[in-house]
Amino acid sequence: MTAKTFEDLPGAGRVPRHVAIVMDGNGRWAQKRHLPRVAGHKQGVDALKRTVHACLRRRVQVLTVFAFSSENWNRPAEEVAGLMELLVLALSREVPELHKNGVQLHFPGDKTGLSARVVRGLESAAVKTVGNQALVLNVCFNYGGRWDMVQAARRLAEQGIEINEETLSAGMALAHVPDPDLLIRTGGESRLSNFLLWQSAYTELYFSDGLWPDFDEIELDKALTDFAGRERRFGQTSAQAPGSALPTSGRQHA
Ligand code: FPP
Repeated sequence: MTAKTFEDLPGAGRVPRHVAIVMDGNGRWAQKRHLPRVAGHKQGVDALKRTVHACLRRRVQVLTVFAFSSENWNRPAEEVAGLMELLVLALSREVPELHKNGVQLHFPGDKTGLSARVVRGLESAAVKTVGNQALVLNVCFNYGGRWDMVQAARRLAEQGIEINEETLSAGMALAHVPDPDLLIRTGGESRLSNFLLWQSAYTELYFSDGLWPDFDEIELDKALTDFAGRERRFGQTSAQAPGSALPTSGRQHA
Protein backbone atom coordinates (compact mmCIF):
# COMPACT_ATOMS: atom_id res chain seq x y z
CA MET A 1 0.00 0.00 0.00
CA THR A 2 1.39 3.42 -0.85
CA ALA A 3 1.50 6.02 1.96
CA LYS A 4 -1.01 8.86 1.42
CA THR A 5 0.22 11.25 4.07
CA PHE A 6 3.35 11.54 6.17
CA GLU A 7 1.49 9.99 9.13
CA ASP A 8 1.05 6.78 7.07
CA LEU A 9 4.77 6.36 6.48
CA PRO A 10 6.63 3.70 8.43
CA GLY A 11 8.31 5.24 11.46
CA ALA A 12 6.37 8.51 11.24
CA GLY A 13 6.07 8.45 15.04
CA ARG A 14 9.82 8.95 15.42
CA VAL A 15 10.31 12.36 13.90
CA PRO A 16 13.76 13.77 14.64
CA ARG A 17 13.69 16.74 16.95
CA HIS A 18 16.52 18.47 15.07
CA VAL A 19 17.29 18.04 11.35
CA ALA A 20 20.43 19.58 9.83
CA ILE A 21 21.00 19.90 6.08
CA VAL A 22 24.00 20.51 3.82
CA MET A 23 22.16 21.93 0.80
CA ASP A 24 24.57 20.79 -1.92
CA GLY A 25 24.18 20.66 -5.70
CA ASN A 26 22.90 24.14 -6.61
CA GLY A 27 25.80 24.82 -8.99
CA ARG A 28 25.38 21.51 -10.83
CA TRP A 29 21.62 22.05 -11.08
CA ALA A 30 22.28 25.38 -12.82
CA GLN A 31 25.12 24.10 -15.02
CA LYS A 32 22.92 21.28 -16.35
CA ARG A 33 20.54 23.97 -17.59
CA HIS A 34 23.31 26.26 -18.90
CA LEU A 35 22.38 28.84 -16.30
CA PRO A 36 24.68 30.88 -14.03
CA ARG A 37 25.40 29.19 -10.67
CA VAL A 38 23.42 31.87 -8.85
CA ALA A 39 20.27 30.61 -10.63
CA GLY A 40 20.82 27.31 -8.81
CA HIS A 41 21.09 29.13 -5.47
CA LYS A 42 17.80 30.96 -6.23
CA GLN A 43 16.09 27.61 -6.78
CA GLY A 44 17.81 26.51 -3.58
CA VAL A 45 15.91 29.19 -1.68
CA ASP A 46 12.63 27.74 -3.00
CA ALA A 47 13.72 24.24 -1.91
CA LEU A 48 14.49 25.67 1.53
CA LYS A 49 11.00 27.21 1.74
CA ARG A 50 9.43 23.85 0.83
CA THR A 51 11.55 22.15 3.46
CA VAL A 52 10.65 24.64 6.20
CA HIS A 53 6.93 24.08 5.52
CA ALA A 54 7.40 20.31 5.44
CA CYS A 55 9.26 20.44 8.78
CA LEU A 56 6.48 22.59 10.30
CA ARG A 57 3.88 20.03 9.17
CA ARG A 58 5.93 17.15 10.59
CA ARG A 59 6.55 18.91 13.89
CA VAL A 60 10.32 18.90 13.55
CA GLN A 61 11.41 21.35 16.26
CA VAL A 62 14.73 22.57 14.84
CA LEU A 63 16.00 22.86 11.25
CA THR A 64 19.62 23.92 10.70
CA VAL A 65 20.91 24.60 7.18
CA PHE A 66 24.36 25.39 5.79
CA ALA A 67 23.83 28.47 3.59
CA PHE A 68 27.38 29.90 3.39
CA SER A 69 30.51 28.30 4.74
CA SER A 70 33.71 29.94 5.98
CA GLU A 71 35.32 28.44 2.86
CA ASN A 72 32.74 29.80 0.38
CA TRP A 73 34.64 33.12 0.26
CA ASN A 74 37.03 31.30 -2.10
CA ARG A 75 34.32 31.06 -4.79
CA PRO A 76 34.25 33.52 -7.73
CA ALA A 77 33.48 37.05 -6.49
CA GLU A 78 30.31 37.14 -8.60
CA GLU A 79 28.92 34.05 -6.89
CA VAL A 80 29.80 35.33 -3.39
CA ALA A 81 28.10 38.67 -4.14
CA GLY A 82 25.10 36.76 -5.54
CA LEU A 83 24.75 34.70 -2.37
CA MET A 84 24.92 37.82 -0.17
CA GLU A 85 22.28 39.54 -2.32
CA LEU A 86 20.10 36.45 -2.25
CA LEU A 87 20.25 36.34 1.53
CA VAL A 88 19.19 39.98 1.89
CA LEU A 89 16.39 39.50 -0.67
CA ALA A 90 15.20 36.21 0.84
CA LEU A 91 15.05 37.84 4.28
CA SER A 92 13.01 40.81 3.13
CA ARG A 93 10.61 38.56 1.16
CA GLU A 94 10.26 35.59 3.46
CA VAL A 95 10.55 36.82 7.05
CA PRO A 96 6.91 38.04 7.32
CA GLU A 97 5.60 34.62 6.21
CA LEU A 98 8.07 32.75 8.44
CA HIS A 99 7.05 34.94 11.37
CA LYS A 100 3.35 34.27 10.70
CA ASN A 101 4.12 30.54 10.79
CA GLY A 102 5.87 30.77 14.16
CA VAL A 103 9.43 30.28 12.91
CA GLN A 104 12.24 31.57 15.15
CA LEU A 105 15.28 32.60 13.10
CA HIS A 106 18.96 32.37 14.09
CA PHE A 107 22.06 32.94 11.98
CA PRO A 108 24.97 31.03 13.51
CA GLY A 109 28.26 32.16 12.01
CA ASP A 110 31.01 34.76 12.02
CA LYS A 111 29.34 38.16 11.66
CA THR A 112 32.68 40.00 11.57
CA GLY A 113 33.28 39.05 7.92
CA LEU A 114 29.88 40.30 6.72
CA SER A 115 28.84 43.73 5.44
CA ALA A 116 26.87 46.05 7.75
CA ARG A 117 23.84 45.70 5.45
CA VAL A 118 23.85 41.91 5.68
CA VAL A 119 24.35 41.98 9.48
CA ARG A 120 21.45 44.44 9.84
CA GLY A 121 19.21 42.09 7.82
CA LEU A 122 20.16 39.08 9.94
CA GLU A 123 19.74 40.91 13.22
CA SER A 124 16.37 42.41 12.38
CA ALA A 125 15.02 38.99 11.25
CA ALA A 126 16.27 37.39 14.47
CA VAL A 127 14.78 40.13 16.67
CA LYS A 128 11.41 40.05 14.88
CA THR A 129 11.00 36.28 15.33
CA VAL A 130 12.53 35.92 18.79
CA GLY A 131 9.52 34.56 20.70
CA ASN A 132 8.26 32.15 18.03
CA GLN A 133 7.78 28.54 19.04
CA ALA A 134 6.73 26.39 16.06
CA LEU A 135 10.20 25.80 14.56
CA VAL A 136 13.70 27.09 15.23
CA LEU A 137 15.40 27.73 11.87
CA ASN A 138 19.18 28.15 12.04
CA VAL A 139 20.56 29.51 8.79
CA CYS A 140 24.31 29.02 9.18
CA PHE A 141 25.98 31.87 7.33
CA ASN A 142 29.75 32.42 7.24
CA TYR A 143 29.84 29.38 9.48
CA GLY A 144 32.44 26.65 9.90
CA GLY A 145 32.64 23.91 12.52
CA ARG A 146 36.29 24.72 13.22
CA TRP A 147 35.54 28.44 13.53
CA ASP A 148 32.78 27.59 16.01
CA MET A 149 35.06 25.50 18.25
CA VAL A 150 37.83 28.10 18.15
CA GLN A 151 35.54 31.05 18.94
CA ALA A 152 33.98 29.19 21.87
CA ALA A 153 37.38 28.11 23.25
CA ARG A 154 38.85 31.59 22.77
CA ARG A 155 36.04 33.23 24.74
CA LEU A 156 36.44 30.77 27.61
CA ALA A 157 40.20 31.36 27.66
CA GLU A 158 39.71 35.14 27.66
CA GLN A 159 37.33 34.84 30.63
CA GLY A 160 39.61 32.40 32.46
CA ILE A 161 36.89 29.72 32.47
CA GLU A 162 37.90 26.05 32.45
CA ILE A 163 37.41 24.38 29.07
CA ASN A 164 35.37 21.18 29.30
CA GLU A 165 32.55 19.63 27.24
CA GLU A 166 29.88 21.54 29.12
CA THR A 167 31.48 24.99 29.00
CA LEU A 168 32.55 24.61 25.38
CA SER A 169 29.07 23.43 24.29
CA ALA A 170 27.52 26.39 26.09
CA GLY A 171 29.71 28.83 24.15
CA MET A 172 29.05 27.41 20.71
CA ALA A 173 26.88 28.94 18.02
CA LEU A 174 24.14 26.32 18.39
CA ALA A 175 23.98 26.34 22.19
CA HIS A 176 20.27 27.33 21.99
CA VAL A 177 19.23 23.96 20.49
CA PRO A 178 19.85 20.26 21.17
CA ASP A 179 22.39 18.48 18.94
CA PRO A 180 21.05 17.37 15.54
CA ASP A 181 19.42 13.92 15.42
CA LEU A 182 19.65 13.66 11.64
CA LEU A 183 22.00 15.34 9.16
CA ILE A 184 21.03 15.20 5.49
CA ARG A 185 23.44 16.05 2.68
CA THR A 186 22.18 16.28 -0.89
CA GLY A 187 24.36 16.39 -4.00
CA GLY A 188 26.03 12.98 -3.87
CA GLU A 189 29.02 13.80 -1.64
CA SER A 190 29.48 11.86 1.61
CA ARG A 191 31.28 14.29 3.89
CA LEU A 192 30.56 16.96 6.49
CA SER A 193 32.60 19.77 4.88
CA ASN A 194 33.21 21.56 8.19
CA PHE A 195 29.50 21.64 9.18
CA LEU A 196 28.51 21.11 12.86
CA LEU A 197 31.69 19.15 13.65
CA TRP A 198 31.18 19.29 17.41
CA GLN A 199 27.39 18.95 17.43
CA SER A 200 27.19 15.94 15.09
CA ALA A 201 29.13 13.53 17.32
CA TYR A 202 26.08 11.21 17.60
CA THR A 203 24.04 12.47 14.67
CA GLU A 204 22.66 10.01 12.12
CA LEU A 205 23.99 10.85 8.65
CA TYR A 206 21.92 10.54 5.47
CA PHE A 207 23.39 11.18 2.03
CA SER A 208 21.31 11.52 -1.11
CA ASP A 209 22.30 11.88 -4.76
CA GLY A 210 19.57 14.40 -5.59
CA LEU A 211 20.55 18.04 -6.11
CA TRP A 212 19.33 20.53 -3.49
CA PRO A 213 17.06 22.60 -5.81
CA ASP A 214 15.06 19.40 -6.48
CA PHE A 215 14.63 18.59 -2.78
CA ASP A 216 11.01 18.27 -1.69
CA GLU A 217 8.68 16.59 0.80
CA ILE A 218 9.15 13.19 -0.83
CA GLU A 219 12.95 13.41 -0.43
CA LEU A 220 12.57 14.62 3.15
CA ASP A 221 10.26 11.72 3.96
CA LYS A 222 12.79 9.24 2.55
CA ALA A 223 15.36 10.62 4.98
CA LEU A 224 12.92 10.66 7.92
CA THR A 225 11.82 7.09 7.23
CA ASP A 226 15.44 5.95 7.03
CA PHE A 227 16.16 7.75 10.32
CA ALA A 228 13.18 6.12 12.04
CA GLY A 229 14.66 2.71 11.28
CA ARG A 230 18.09 3.46 12.76
CA GLU A 231 19.24 2.14 16.12
CA ARG A 232 21.00 4.90 18.03
CA ARG A 233 23.32 3.58 20.71
CA PHE A 234 25.22 6.70 21.84
CA GLY A 235 28.24 4.55 22.71
CA GLN A 236 26.17 1.96 24.55
CA THR A 237 25.37 -1.62 23.54
CA SER A 238 22.26 -2.62 21.63
CA ALA A 239 20.76 -4.12 24.81
CA GLN A 240 21.29 -0.89 26.76
CA ALA A 241 19.88 1.37 24.03
CA PRO A 242 16.95 -0.56 22.67
CA GLY A 243 16.29 0.74 19.20
CA SER A 244 15.42 4.36 19.91
CA ALA A 245 15.90 6.82 17.07
CA LEU A 246 15.60 9.72 19.51
CA PRO A 247 17.85 10.51 22.47
CA THR A 248 16.48 10.30 25.98
CA SER A 249 17.64 13.17 28.19
CA GLY A 250 21.10 12.78 29.62
CA ARG A 251 22.04 10.05 27.15
CA GLN A 252 23.18 12.38 24.43
CA HIS A 253 26.87 12.15 25.25
CA ALA A 254 26.92 8.68 26.81
C1 FPP B 1 26.13 24.32 -2.23
O1 FPP B 1 25.89 24.03 -3.59
C2 FPP B 1 25.29 25.42 -1.81
C3 FPP B 1 25.72 26.63 -1.33
C4 FPP B 1 27.14 26.97 -1.20
C5 FPP B 1 24.79 27.68 -0.96
C6 FPP B 1 23.52 27.19 -0.34
C7 FPP B 1 22.53 28.26 -0.42
C8 FPP B 1 21.22 28.08 -0.70
C9 FPP B 1 20.54 26.79 -0.85
C10 FPP B 1 20.34 29.22 -0.85
C11 FPP B 1 19.82 29.61 0.49
C12 FPP B 1 20.68 30.67 0.90
C13 FPP B 1 20.28 31.76 1.46
C14 FPP B 1 21.09 32.90 1.12
C15 FPP B 1 19.12 31.85 2.38
P1 FPP B 1 27.08 24.19 -4.61
O2 FPP B 1 27.03 25.56 -5.16
O3 FPP B 1 28.36 23.81 -3.96
O4 FPP B 1 26.68 23.15 -5.70
P2 FPP B 1 27.66 22.27 -6.59
O5 FPP B 1 28.31 21.29 -5.66
O6 FPP B 1 26.72 21.60 -7.54
O7 FPP B 1 28.62 23.19 -7.26
